[in-house]
Amino acid sequence: MAMPDLSLNDVRGRYLAFFAARDHAEIPSASLVPENDPTTLFTGSGMQPLLPYLLGQPHSAGTRLVDSQKSFRSEDIEEAGDNRHTTFFEMLGNWSLGDYFKKEQLPWIFEFLTDELKLNPENLYVTVFAGDEEANIPRDEESAEIWQALFAAKGMEAKTVELITEQRASEVGMQDGRIFFYDSGSNWWSRSGPPAGMPAGEPGGPDSEMFYDFGTEHDTAYGEHCHPNCDCGRFMEVGNNVFMEYLKQEDGSFAALPNKNVDFGGGLERIAAAVNNSPDVFAVDELQSVIAVIAAATQKTYSENDTETKSFRIIADHMRAATFLLSDGVRPSPADQGYVARRLIRRAALHARNLGLDLNALAPDIVRTLGDSYAAAYPAVGEQAEVISTELVAEAEKFYGTLERGIKKIGEYLQNRPDVNGQQAFELYATYGLPIDVTIEVAAEEGKSVDVEDFNRLMEEHRDKSRAAAAGKFAGGLADHSDMSVKYHTATHLLHQALRTVLGDHVLQKGSNITPKRLRFDFSHPDKMTDEQKKAVEDLVNKQITANIPVTREETTVAEAKAQGALGLFEDKYADSVHVYKVGDFSIEICGGPHVDSTGTLGTFRITKEESTSAGVRRIKAVLTGNE
Ligand code: SER
Repeated sequence: MAMPDLSLNDVRGRYLAFFAARDHAEIPSASLVPENDPTTLFTGSGMQPLLPYLLGQPHSAGTRLVDSQKSFRSEDIEEAGDNRHTTFFEMLGNWSLGDYFKKEQLPWIFEFLTDELKLNPENLYVTVFAGDEEANIPRDEESAEIWQALFAAKGMEAKTVELITEQRASEVGMQDGRIFFYDSGSNWWSRSGPPAGMPAGEPGGPDSEMFYDFGTEHDTAYGEHCHPNCDCGRFMEVGNNVFMEYLKQEDGSFAALPNKNVDFGGGLERIAAAVNNSPDVFAVDELQSVIAVIAAATQKTYSENDTETKSFRIIADHMRAATFLLSDGVRPSPADQGYVARRLIRRAALHARNLGLDLNALAPDIVRTLGDSYAAAYPAVGEQAEVISTELVAEAEKFYGTLERGIKKIGEYLQNRPDVNGQQAFELYATYGLPIDVTIEVAAEEGKSVDVEDFNRLMEEHRDKSRAAAAGKFAGGLADHSDMSVKYHTATHLLHQALRTVLGDHVLQKGSNITPKRLRFDFSHPDKMTDEQKKAVEDLVNKQITANIPVTREETTVAEAKAQGALGLFEDKYADSVHVYKVGDFSIEICGGPHVDSTGTLGTFRITKEESTSAGVRRIKAVLTGNE
């Protein structure tokens, strides 16, 4: 009954065709770099680019969509190297925007997995939502009943079992179940986790996940008994049917979204691994051809238990991820997306060195191979192969240069000391760009250790400083600290809040630039502002100025600032402790300052221009007069 091995291209193609045959319009993958979304560096799931449509905005392609979304999760960089984590992956998605719901979705996806891909239903297990009393969301009996009927049609009796929490699941085990009820810790999907932690305005819903059983032995390091959500590697999640129908309210309750939506997401690499009945996601053609390039250069082979397997996988994963990031316009740099690309390339370079290879020599062949494998689905990779290779080679060369200097420096340190202390490790990182894992490894070759704890403390200190600087730079966008610039900075806060009051809470700062002569402010808003709206904003700002309101600053935590309703940008870049600036009760914002003491000195605020900068982003230029 098993299929011959399928490639990622095969599985993607079959999925898109399966749903196209059920009246779904195929939509292209969005970029890995999200547009107009300052809250996250990368597209990490299929639903991110579709958020506005799940919230109710009509999609031009209709109410049934299917896609394969390029996704990248930087939190998995450290996990890469085992048989089931990749930083880059594709997420297959089918979407009902207020069209079909559970009764169609579960039978379709079951048919796709068992009839189209020929997965043995005996190896499939599913989970459903047990309900959340506190959030007043009912238990999902309907999905459990649908699943029961689907398994029955395959001649299987599917027992339902209450596992509820993962803790309890690992204590009691599977109890011959096929359909498992878990609580909102496992079977609720929103971008911010279970119902209780979701901010107002965030959509979410119960989900039903599907797991493939590879039949490998349970590893008790992960708990006494195995169960579908166990991380030991026996079960792999192959898809998640999210029934997105709720919207969190200001008062903490849940209301119905305008539509009952389906958001199905399934990791392409994982589904392919299940089809090929191999728990190693690197066994597919597209990654094997990268591994073949490495193997040819080392004369070593990639095999499941080889001690060097980890390095093969890390190089393959990181090079594929970096190649795709570069094909979406990212360039290695010290900040943001560019920094992540740099980390990927450097880590790959280090693992190439472990295998006795130079990444710069390998990179062009790897990129060419990826370009060929993905020619049909993502032609940009092949079309840009040359520039991507050039960037990768340059970055790898730079890193090896750094590495040589760092290794020499470590040698010097070790001449006078028995180990590498925290300060030295930090200097190697800050001055030579040497990652701590490299320092540890090089020291270990000499039988020496590194004071990692002290290094981490210094890193923390350094991070806090640079985050605070980043927050100040972005929130302020100040060209200088002249008197007028400071006034414009305070006026920017007033403008930000006034826009939210007049236009709505969807308005968020997208950029700011201040000179002593004017302010420039970019913000999210779909339409051109009317003259009345501009006037209302001007009036509201001027009212705050005339009232001569004191501007106060306090130091607090990000959590506390958020609890107070402070506006903030690039949340994850802030240090633990931040400054919050308040203009009376009118405006509250996380910001590095500086600001005037009181609004009365600002003069008269006037908008001089309102225009579009990109889709969904408007730009205002404004001046303060009568205060020079
Ligand atoms: N939103 C769900 C996920 O990312 C399904 O697409 O897992």
